Amino acid sequence: MKNFIFQNPTKLVFGKGEIARLSELLPDDKKLMVTYGGGSVTRNGIYDQVKTALKGHNYIEFWGIEPNPRVETLRKAIQMGKENHVDYLLAVGGGSVLDGTKLIAAGIATDADAWDIVLSGIAKKQIPFASVMTVPATGSEMNGGAVITREETKEKYSFGGDYPQFSILDPEVTYTLSEHQIACGLADAYTHVLEQYMTTPGQSRIMDRWAEGVLLSILEIAPKIKANPRDYDLMSDYMLAATLALNDFIRMGVTQDWATHQIGHELTALHGTTHGHSLAIVMPGLFRILKDQKKAKLLQYGERIFGITKGSEDERADKAIEMTEAFYRSLGLTTRLSEEGIGKETIETIVHRFNERGVAFGENHNVTGDVTRKILESCYLAYSHA
Ligand code: NZQ
Ligand code: ZN
Repeated sequence: MKNFIFQNPTKLVFGKGEIARLSELLPDDKKLMVTYGGGSVTRNGIYDQVKTALKGHNYIEFWGIEPNPRVETLRKAIQMGKENHVDYLLAVGGGSVLDGTKLIAAGIATDADAWDIVLSGIAKKQIPFASVMTVPATGSEMNGGAVITREETKEKYSFGGDYPQFSILDPEVTYTLSEHQIACGLADAYTHVLEQYMTTPGQSRIMDRWAEGVLLSILEIAPKIKANPRDYDLMSDYMLAATLALNDFIRMGVTQDWATHQIGHELTALHGTTHGHSLAIVMPGLFRILKDQKKAKLLQYGERIFGITKGSEDERADKAIEMTEAFYRSLGLTTRLSEEGIGKETIETIVHRFNERGVAFGENHNVTGDVTRKILESCYLAYSHA
């Protein structure tokens, strides 16, 4: 096990009706800004619950943080926050609203340009923020990461910083998500676990078993959710799985990959592919190309998650990769670039960008532009398994 420091300060408030707790959780001596997306909260009752809970608080609202939040929009929120002397933020929405709010928190706290903060990789200072999370997927509700898009240049980068002071998760908010949003959310959570698990073997039994527990839970609930997306207990497990997949708990003392995310962000930046969907396309391809490097972990995963025990090591590793891709497809997602009409020129654009940036992603720092080309070419081939 590698050395590590673990500290997750977010207070998690979970369950039906818990949005009402905003009134006691939010400080009453602060000037608040409540941030929202495009308006889904007004159609499912969340906005009304928040407004009721905020009675008596001093707050303004900022609307219009879009999916894959844009720095161009967030600059406006930062300006509004500064003009109104805002010193506490509440994000009400999905990962995009919360990620955007993390950048607003940094922009209000300093004079630095918002995009410079993103490029620096770390927000040195942020005003406090909290969330009501409405999409189980990103784990943003209990982590210090944020991913921001610059529309002007079609770039998408992440940065780190403070964690939400608290996050409220009411599984009932998920009842209005579309089947595609749920598929992308489950794919995102599943991939988060794989990014922290499918790396170096033998680093920690406890982390392995914990990660495998989250994977097995997602595999178990996914088909049930498809059949019954308004089952409170199923949606509770889905919501908690998404949080646990990326709140630092399964990464203690183990190496991490994240190359799939880096490549997926490029697909989103260039083509608008929904985040979870981009991962469903890239992750199986990355496994195919890095099969030898990841073989020991693929064999463990194949046996413990899918019960694969027969065949040579090579055959078992192939089967584990096939089963992973089949899972993403079972959610209703395509897994090949060609199925999305994304062509070879996009592959070249991404390889060019990565070569220019001199990247070397992954647990072994070997996913360069050229390795990325191989990965994306394998994601381009037609899907042929039954
Ligand atoms: O904008 P509104 O009108 O609110 O609609 C949203 C949006 O269109 C809608 N929505 C939200 N809650 C809903 C709802 N629709 C019905 N019912 C509800 N309860 O859903 C749409 C998508 O929302 P978005 O916030 O974009 O989804 P998600 O939570 O998947 O967030 C994706 C973003 O998070 C980043 C991704 O890259 C992407 O930019 N990520 C953030 C991470 C982090 N902070 O740790 C890690 C992830 O790997 C990921 O990269
Ligand atoms: Zn993700």
